Amino acid sequence: MAALSGKTCLITGGAGSIGLATARLFLAQGAQVMLADLDSAQLDDLVSQLGSENIAGHATDVTDAAAVSDLVDATLARFGNIDVVFSNAGNFGQVSPIDQYPEDVFDAVYQVHVKGAFLVCKYAVPKMRDGGSIVITSSVAGTRGDPGVYGYITAKHAQIGLMRCLAKELAPRKIRVNTIHPGPIDNSFQHAVEDDLGKLIKADAGEFFDSQTPLGRHGTPDEIAQSVLFLASDQSSYTTGTMLMVDGGMSG
Ligand SMILES: NC(=O)c1ccc[n+]([C@@H]2O[C@H](COP(=O)([O-])OP(=O)(O)OC[C@H]3O[C@@H](n4cnc5c(N)ncnc54)[C@H](O)[C@@H]3O)[C@@H](O)[C@H]2O)c1
Repeated sequence: MAALSGKTCLITGGAGSIGLATARLFLAQGAQVMLADLDSAQLDDLVSQLGSENIAGHATDVTDAAAVSDLVDATLARFGNIDVVFSNAGNFGQVSPIDQYPEDVFDAVYQVHVKGAFLVCKYAVPKMRDGGSIVITSSVAGTRGDPGVYGYITAKHAQIGLMRCLAKELAPRKIRVNTIHPGPIDNSFQHAVEDDLGKLIKADAGEFFDSQTPLGRHGTPDEIAQSVLFLASDQSSYTTGTMLMVDGGMSG
């Protein structure tokens, strides 16, 4: 039987690289999938491209509590249940020395990663079926420091705290909560990061990341999706409160 047969999965950042790769895999594994992201026209296009009655999209800014509450209601109205929440929306901010790091950029990064993940859980958890799974996309950046990455790295650390609190609160309901920690992924999000970081370290940041990664390369969105599937499905039935590194060994 498919790993997510009969399960409804809500994915934020669902129009992005990792979110969409995960949605495709979840669909192939029998799930019903609600994609949430900022741009409704983009979501409509993706849903029609995927061409399945088991997928829908709902334009949602995860930093807006009313919008997140609507998203949860829309998911229930369309599919009836919520079993899996993949809180994955993300922005990067910028790379600057601490004295030049803008406060508004810092706040905007926290709004998406920390408050956004908090709101998605706050509104989805009361409506989730017992026995489900929450996966929050942190990063290898949640386990290390790099110069100038003040918003993103501290926010990715903060998501681990959210996961740990929730894992304990939701264990009686058999809802598992884990973070996934991708290393550098070969996609436009990471390429933008590398352009920015490269200027600060005055070197090719893509090569820098590969040199820090024992497997010697960037990962792919599909490799992350496979690991999210493990956490989302009953294959990880005894795994909660943990950090799954999918980073080519970078954090080791
Ligand atoms: N790409 C990498 O190398 C990498 C590595 C580690 C972790 N991550 C994390 O993976 C997650 C997905 O990133 P990605 O690589 O697929 O990048 P991406 O830019 O392709 O996807 C991120 C998505 O989040 C959406 N988003 C941003 N702000 C939002 C908001 N307020 N409300 C709703 N949606 C919003 C964007 O529109 C975008 O579609 C992010 O949390 C990112 O921090 C990425």
